[in-house]
Amino acid sequence: MGSLFSKAYDRVMKPVEQRRFGKIRKKLVSNQQGTVLEIGSGTGANFPYYKNAEKVIAIEPDHSMRELSEKKRSEATVPIELVNASAERLPFDDNTFDVVVGTLVLCSVTDLNQALQEIKRVAKYEAPILFLEHVRLDQPIVGRLQDVVTPVWKRMCDGCHLNRNTLESIKQNGFRVEQVDQHFKGLFLEIRARNEK
Ligand SMILES: C[S@@+](CC[C@H](N)C(=O)[O-])C[C@H]1O[C@@H](n2cnc3c(N)ncnc32)[C@H](O)[C@@H]1O
Repeated sequence: MGSLFSKAYDRVMKPVEQRRFGKIRKKLVSNQQGTVLEIGSGTGANFPYYKNAEKVIAIEPDHSMRELSEKKRSEATVPIELVNASAERLPFDDNTFDVVVGTLVLCSVTDLNQALQEIKRVAKYEAPILFLEHVRLDQPIVGRLQDVVTPVWKRMCDGCHLNRNTLESIKQNGFRVEQVDQHFKGLFLEIRARNEK
């Protein structure tokens, strides 16, 4: 990721973090227990909200994002280990994690199915798999607009796809979706699933 994008990330996100995402992040991660894997942890926006995990292993392939997350990592309530890795190739044994968390990340992974299969492999059976993701809206005009804008958006925002049907991909990759909460009229989905082997 360009370091310009990573440096601007927290500033650009601040208003929406304060109004909405902070509360969603807290709800999603604060009660999670055991060993948690976080995918694409970025600047560490979730780190302050982990309260009950035994430890968090956070993978992030971008050097500048890892650096920017260091302060939140060191101030976190629970131990957090940062690992340089990509979701498509997780350097962990099968059935390692009690929980997997990914926020605003499945839009950016290069190979979504490969990433989901890797999550499936390293998560324990029945482990909670928790996502906050923006998705393609199932509305003809807005959905089409997301398709049209995505090629330019991808270049500006480091590979971010505006038009992924992420919920469907999660289901197709064999996770059992238990709850989906919509935010911003369904543009963002808070997804709670379980790992089925
Ligand atoms: C929009 S940022 C979100 C960061 C953070 N998860 C959050 O909620 O603020 C997307 C992050 O995904 C990371 N990323 C991109 N491709 C990835 C991949 N293949 N595997 C893991 N992380 C990836 C990026 O480096 C970036 O930090």
